[in-house]
Amino acid sequence: MIKKGIILAGGLGTRMSPLTKAVNKQLLPLFDKPLIFYPLSVLMLAGIKKILIIVNKGQLNQFRKILPEDNNLGISIEYKEQYRPGGLPQAFTIGEKFIGKDNVSLILGDNFFYGQSLTKILKSNINLKTGARIFIHPVKKPHLYGVASLDKNKKVINLVEKPKKTKSNLAVTGLYFFDNKVIEITKKLKPSKRGELEIIDLLNFYKRKNKLKAEFIGRGGSWLDTGSVNDFHDASNFISTIENRQGLKIACLEEIALKNNWIQNKHIKKAVNFYGNCDYSKYLKSLII
Ligand code: TTP
Repeated sequence: MIKKGIILAGGLGTRMSPLTKAVNKQLLPLFDKPLIFYPLSVLMLAGIKKILIIVNKGQLNQFRKILPEDNNLGISIEYKEQYRPGGLPQAFTIGEKFIGKDNVSLILGDNFFYGQSLTKILKSNINLKTGARIFIHPVKKPHLYGVASLDKNKKVINLVEKPKKTKSNLAVTGLYFFDNKVIEITKKLKPSKRGELEIIDLLNFYKRKNKLKAEFIGRGGSWLDTGSVNDFHDASNFISTIENRQGLKIACLEEIALKNNWIQNKHIKKAVNFYGNCDYSKYLKSLII
């Protein structure tokens, strides 16, 4: 069972400079909320209440302003700093104390997931006892991603980073579930040529032991990139289209907490005070009348 989740929200955001020169990418607006709300909403939808957010050195206070440890979401949020972006697996050494003896989920701070089947997929994988689980999604340009090939039992048989040629169109998304061995395995990893620990090396470790399985986020779900300014803009448009049509919000954290019975109406009222007079607060008020 996975009860803890790490959001990796550091990084340089080079591709989005100058926007990211002074502000962490995860704090930029993806339509009507900071980007970090979206990965956090995924962990909350999975039922995870213990969250560690890893940020760049010097950026803690900015994050605390929007997601304080003392929040109205019924979840516990801890923070740790990453000294420099040394690769995704660093999440497990930086988070070693937070993880303790438990299994853990990792989500990249800039990943956007949406779709009706999402909660079902998350809940059906949350019971992971041993091994690792990745979540894959079909994409038109697989050469831009880590790409997986599976056998019929959804076991991963091949995993390649940004292949020039590939028969599979299944990209590895930025959501991962791991057993507790992930800490020990991360400590054995060596930096790649670009000087970073690579998630693909970590996953291949599990694959070699026949312990890596994949779950499909099928065509009914969406996984969008937010790495470049264009991706960011497209994802914002996607969210605005759906929210304006339905009148429902994607990744409203308080709404998810309320539905999970983690908070009550009084916390929604506190959240309205916290955000002030804005559309997000109006939406929150509409949840409790
Ligand atoms: P990347 O897309 O690899 O990097 P980035 O977001 O900094 O952007 P760029 O390539 O334009 O410089 O990172 C994916 C996510 O993981 C992103 O949310 C940042 C985060 N990250 C960390 O927090 N620490 C790290 O060491 C790395 C490599 C990424």
